[in-house]
Amino acid sequence: MKVLVIGSGGREHALSWKIAKSPIVEKVYVAPGNGGTELEDNISNINIDVGDIEALSNFASDEEIDLTIVGPEDPLVSGITDIFIEKGLKCFGPSKEAAQLEGSKEFMKQFLKKNKIPTAEYQSFKDAKQAIKYVEEKGCPIVIKADGLAAGKGVTIAYTLEDAKEAILQSLESEIFGEAGKNIVIEEFLEGEEASFIVITDGTTAIPFASSQDHKARDDGDKGPNTGGMGAYSPAPIVDDSIHSRIMEEVIQPTLKGLNDLGYHYCGFLYAGMMINEQKELKVLEFNCRFGDPETQPIMMRLKSDLADLCYKACEKKLAGESLEWDQRKSLGVVMAAKGYPHKYEKNNEIRNIPEENEEFKVFHAGTKLKDGSLTTNGGRVLCVTALGDSVQSAQAKVYSEIENILWDDGFFRRDIGYRAIDREQNESS
Ligand code: AMP
Ligand code: GLY
Repeated sequence: MKVLVIGSGGREHALSWKIAKSPIVEKVYVAPGNGGTELEDNISNINIDVGDIEALSNFASDEEIDLTIVGPEDPLVSGITDIFIEKGLKCFGPSKEAAQLEGSKEFMKQFLKKNKIPTAEYQSFKDAKQAIKYVEEKGCPIVIKADGLAAGKGVTIAYTLEDAKEAILQSLESEIFGEAGKNIVIEEFLEGEEASFIVITDGTTAIPFASSQDHKARDDGDKGPNTGGMGAYSPAPIVDDSIHSRIMEEVIQPTLKGLNDLGYHYCGFLYAGMMINEQKELKVLEFNCRFGDPETQPIMMRLKSDLADLCYKACEKKLAGESLEWDQRKSLGVVMAAKGYPHKYEKNNEIRNIPEENEEFKVFHAGTKLKDGSLTTNGGRVLCVTALGDSVQSAQAKVYSEIENILWDDGFFRRDIGYRAIDREQNESS
C-alpha cells in the first residue's frame, strides 16, 4: 500500500521510518518532510505545506494513497480528517469535533468534568478583572492556559500574583495569542511526576503504547523555559502495571465512551498527559489528539508490531483483538536544538557527520533540510539522537557518546535526559 504521512518534525520522521519497514507498504510519502526523511531509501518528500489541506487531499487522490497519517495537531483541529473522508480517502486522525480535546482547553475541561475523569480544578474566563479576582482568591502557584492552540506557548505556571496577572492581561487584553487566548482556563497547580500515555484507537478499542516521559524544560534539572520537548524515554517507570491499568480504566475508556456519547468520530492516536502524585492519584493535565514529539522517537525504536497495519485497521474500525509487541529494552532520545531555542535562533547552519543508523541507534531529524547536497538546520529542534539499551542508563550513555561525533557548532542539548529513571535504576541496584 501507499502511505502519506503529514508533517515535518521528528515525530513524522520516526513515524514514516517505522511505516516504511512494514512488509505491506510499498511506498511512503511525507508532506513536507525534512532532511532526514529525504535521506531515507523508500520515503519521498512532497513539497506541500501541512496547512494546505486542499493540495494534500488532491495529492492523496491523484496518487491513489491508501492511507494518510496526520502527525501534527493543527491540520487535525482544522478538520483534515473530515475533508479526506468526504473525498473517500482513508485518513488516520480524529475528526475536527473530536480534535477539540486538544484544540480547546475549555472543551477538554468540560468534557473531563462531565465524564468524571480526574483533572485539576478550574474555571474559564474572558474577562481579565474576573480572572484576576479568581487568582487573588485562589493564591499561587496557579496555572493559566490559553484556550486554543498557541504553538506550545499558551501555558503559564505563575508562582506569584504578579506573574499570574501579567499572563492574564497578556492573553485577554494584549491578545498575544490572538483568537486562541481570548478565552483562558485557570487551574489548580498539580504536584507530582508527569508521564505521557498514548494509545491507538478506532473509537471503540484502544491499545496502549509503551509509556514514556518527556523533558519539557530547556535546561538541565528541568529548569528554564518550556519547550516542545528536549528529550524523552520509554518506558516511564512511574507507570507501573497498576497505574497503567488505572489510566486505561479511569481515563482512556471513559474518554472513548464520552466521545461516543457525543457522536464524535475518533480514529487515531490519543495522548493523555498525566500527573501522578506521591499518593498515586492520577490527574489528566492535557489531551493531545496526536502522537507526542519527542516521545514518538524512543517509542518507535521499541515497537516491534506493524504500525502501518494497525493504523489501517484503526481506520476500518477493526482494532479489536489486536495487540502491540515491544522490544523489552529501554529507549531514550536526546533533542539537539539550535542555540536560542525556544526563543530566536538561526537557520541554515551546516551539520556534518551524523552517525549511521544501526539496530539499536538512530538519529531522527526535525528541523533539517538538504541544501545543495549538504544537511542544514531549518528549525529550533533539529535532531533527536535515540538509542536502545538494557537500562535507561546504558541507552543514555550510547546517545551521549554518539552526540560527540556530530559536527554542528550552533547546537545545544540537555545532558541529563532520563535522570529520574536512572536515579530509580541506581536505587534499585544498591
Ligand atoms: P499543557 O499544554 O496543558 O500540557 O501544559 C504544558 C505543561 O505545563 C505540562 O506538561 C506541565 O508540565 C505543565 N502544567 C500544565 N498544567 C499544569 C498543572 N495544572 N499543574 C502543574 N503543571 C502543569
Ligand atoms: N512532548 C509533548 C508533546 O508532544 O506535546
